[in-house]
Amino acid sequence: MPNSRDIDLSALQNMPSKTKRQWRFLAETDSTNAEISRRLAKHPPPEEGLIILADSQTDGKGRLGRTWHSAPGTGVYISTLIRPNLTPEQLPILTLMAGLATVIAVNEFTTNHTQLKWPNDLLLNGKKIAGVLCEYYPKNIPAVIIGIGINVNQTQFPADIKEIATSLKLETGEEINRTALIKQLITQLDFQYSELKKHKVGTLIKNWTSHTDLFGKTITLKKSIQSITGKAIRLDNLGRLVIVNESGEETAFDSGEVRLG
Ligand code: BTN
Repeated sequence: MPNSRDIDLSALQNMPSKTKRQWRFLAETDSTNAEISRRLAKHPPPEEGLIILADSQTDGKGRLGRTWHSAPGTGVYISTLIRPNLTPEQLPILTLMAGLATVIAVNEFTTNHTQLKWPNDLLLNGKKIAGVLCEYYPKNIPAVIIGIGINVNQTQFPADIKEIATSLKLETGEEINRTALIKQLITQLDFQYSELKKHKVGTLIKNWTSHTDLFGKTITLKKSIQSITGKAIRLDNLGRLVIVNESGEETAFDSGEVRLG
């Protein structure tokens, strides 16, 4: 029987921090990202630092219109609101920032190395363990909702994703305390965001690169109806993926879906 006993809201609220945060825990919601988006439409809108944590989601959203499987008592489903001072072309860097924070937090709980797959996936032993969905809210004061889903104590997944998804429990054999993982995640997210506010984009890109095995591999990138095959060689300073084709031409992509081979 799933339960949310391993989520200790007061321990999270009392975490030492330089950042002002407002924590909200919901046993169930449609989507923690949608929950923040609804609150943004109200007056007064919430301030930077709002965190919505749910034990389950009935309509968890993934990237590219996909669904994020969000069963109760097992995963981390969390969204936070930030109001960054970035230009629209710099915004995609936030997905990388959140992915980096997540991979560092997740790796505290496994001896295997979780890998980042551009732009928003985390893979452990080749299967998806976590994902990031950043949504931009341009009205009034610009806001960004950073949504993070981590598969933690799931022991099974629905048939359509069971070959491609995994959880920390399935990989390590151990039950993970979600409060401990969320603490690591928020600590990392605060740190990476404070570094970004100090304009340390180069360091962010370097650290992101040290957590991926993508570079040097032949990939196919799908972007709407376009499909480009080439070698992934690096990220540029906007976090765009640079691919080189057979003629040696380099192109930088700001979005798309990467497949190996
Ligand atoms: C992806 O890999 O496609 C992104 C998955 C993001 C899932 C998280 S769970 C918390 C937040 N709320 C949502 O509805 N989605 C994100």
